[in-house]
Amino acid sequence: MDLKLGDKVALVTGAGGGIGASIAATLAEHGCSVYVADSNGAAAAKVAAQVGQRSYPLTLDVGNASQAFAAVEQVVRERGRIDIVVNNAGILKTRSILDSSIEDWDDVCRVNLSGVYYCCKAALTSMVEQHYGKIINIASVSAMKGGGSFGNVLYGTTKAGVVALTKGLARELAPFGINVNAIAPGVVETSMTGSLLTPERRKAVLAGIPLGRFASTDDIAHVVALLASDVLGYVTGETIVVDGGYLTR
Ligand SMILES: NC(=O)c1ccc[n+]([C@@H]2O[C@H](COP(=O)([O-])OP(=O)(O)OC[C@H]3O[C@@H](n4cnc5c(N)ncnc54)[C@H](O)[C@@H]3O)[C@@H](O)[C@H]2O)c1
Repeated sequence: MDLKLGDKVALVTGAGGGIGASIAATLAEHGCSVYVADSNGAAAAKVAAQVGQRSYPLTLDVGNASQAFAAVEQVVRERGRIDIVVNNAGILKTRSILDSSIEDWDDVCRVNLSGVYYCCKAALTSMVEQHYGKIINIASVSAMKGGGSFGNVLYGTTKAGVVALTKGLARELAPFGINVNAIAPGVVETSMTGSLLTPERRKAVLAGIPLGRFASTDDIAHVVALLASDVLGYVTGETIVVDGGYLTR
């Protein structure tokens, strides 16, 4: 299917690995110019080199408001517009409330929630002027469970904030031609989850997934591409669950 993304400019955060790298590659396959942004500049450069033509590495810590604004400013200066922002950067703290520290809470909120707000806010001036924009936020099924498979209450709370932010922004920005949606993945094997999936844990988590497998990074990236296109132009304020049926149990 031609998603007609050929003239679009995208910024993908946390794209130096895992799900974000697949999102960047998928958007590029559909013809987008893609800024591959990550706080790990070397990882961003490596992914951008793999993605190839019309992909540009960017060092960006999304939890730093001035860096978020500078990144968007660079995209608009170099490409003349910004059409798609995928807020994918995120960190996971698996500590329970009893074991967690104030620093854990501050870190998770700064990256997972403030980072999404900063990048949205930074892109809005251009998107409102263009009367066009697609914002896609990567939440998690842990938003619906107050934490997910790894007992991650702090993380789940920030992802629930992302779901609420998505709905509220969608309502406020619809008059400006901007769609805002989120995706709530189930478990995806990436560096975020890899070390947590001991053989016993893997078996237990898989037993709770009706489709019997973890999500691939492409399972998430394909939904991002659809939401980034006008094929799903009438969808806004939604959180699309991509979890192999995990939440049905
Ligand atoms: N892996 C899963 O099972 C899963 C499930 C649900 C949701 N998610 C969400 O998907 C997104 C991607 O996760 P992943 O599994 O690919 O993780 P990952 O750890 O493999 O990749 C995350 C990337 O984000 C970057 N990053 C971290 N902090 C950053 C910051 N402050 N600014 C910019 N970049 C930063 C990292 O350097 C890394 O390249 C996250 O938002 C995560 O919460 C993941």
